[in-house]
Amino acid sequence: MTSSHTTDSTHGPIRTPLQLLYGSLLAFIGPIAVIIGLASFVASGNKTSPGAADLERSVALRIQKVGSVEVRDANRPLQSGEQVYKAQCAACHASGAVGAPKLGDAAAWGPRIKTGFDSLVQSALKGKNAMSAQGGGAFSDVEIARAVAYMANQGGGQFTEPPAPAPAQ
Ligand code: HEC
Repeated sequence: MTSSHTTDSTHGPIRTPLQLLYGSLLAFIGPIAVIIGLASFVASGNKTSPGAADLERSVALRIQKVGSVEVRDANRPLQSGEQVYKAQCAACHASGAVGAPKLGDAAAWGPRIKTGFDSLVQSALKGKNAMSAQGGGAFSDVEIARAVAYMANQGGGQFTEPPAPAPAQ
């Protein structure tokens, strides 16, 4: 109690205003540098440099549209299969990149069409090998099913693009 009164201000490392300035700058910048360092360390975990392993694949993954921010309007008109195809699927399926069955290529689509519409839709919804879920898009399931019907039909399928579900009350 008694000794705690002694002022210690003339001791310690900070004696001049300049030192105080440097000291406070360091105190400010230091933690930020540490945080940035830690963050980049954590994020660097399993990053392979893009294009290192498979150029074609990495290009396709980069140009595919990734989850766009979209205000979902429940009443917005559903996009047709062709619209979804052009917006999302063409990135790979127009050229046949990364082994995607090419639009209109009956030989590539034939065996897949035989697995049935539902199976194809499931692949498109959940992703398959180099194709990520929804081909990386953010569509409704019906829109994806429409795109699948559109694509498969160009390759010899006979599917009907599913209609919009009855609106929820
Ligand atoms: C990043 C490239 C890429 C995009 C974008 C992409 N696909 Fe694919 N897709 C593939 C590849 C690769 C395969 C072949 C997968 C396999 O069988 O190994 C494939 C296969 C498919 C198949 C056949 C699945 C099966 O079971 O045989 C369907 C259907 C399909 N895609 C639909 C779509 C639809 C619909 C879209 C757009 C919403 C889309 N794809 C976008 C790469 C892509």
